[in-house]
Amino acid sequence: MAELPVGAMKQVTMDMDDITIYHTSQGFFATSDVCTHASESLAKGRLDGNIIACPKHGGKFDVTTGRAVAFPCVEPVETYAVEVRGDDVWLEYED
Ligand code: FES
Repeated sequence: MAELPVGAMKQVTMDMDDITIYHTSQGFFATSDVCTHASESLAKGRLDGNIIACPKHGGKFDVTTGRAVAFPCVEPVETYAVEVRGDDVWLEYED
């Protein structure tokens, strides 16, 4: 996991969907990269523990659940199941 140390995140694209993978002290998590408030890229934001802060208006989501935890975000962000296999991180993704 040297490529993505704890506290880091990475945006990937699956088909047409942008997804952000987060490495927190609780493990790996993945959400849609698109903020539910006004479509900013969450990968450009700041990860603090399990909370990603959107860079556009400062709304926040819990990356472990997708729940919006700070205004102006109120709608949850989509989450994806993540599985670690050796040095690889796999996403459960359906388009
Ligand atoms: S676009 Fe993310 S908080 Fe507004």
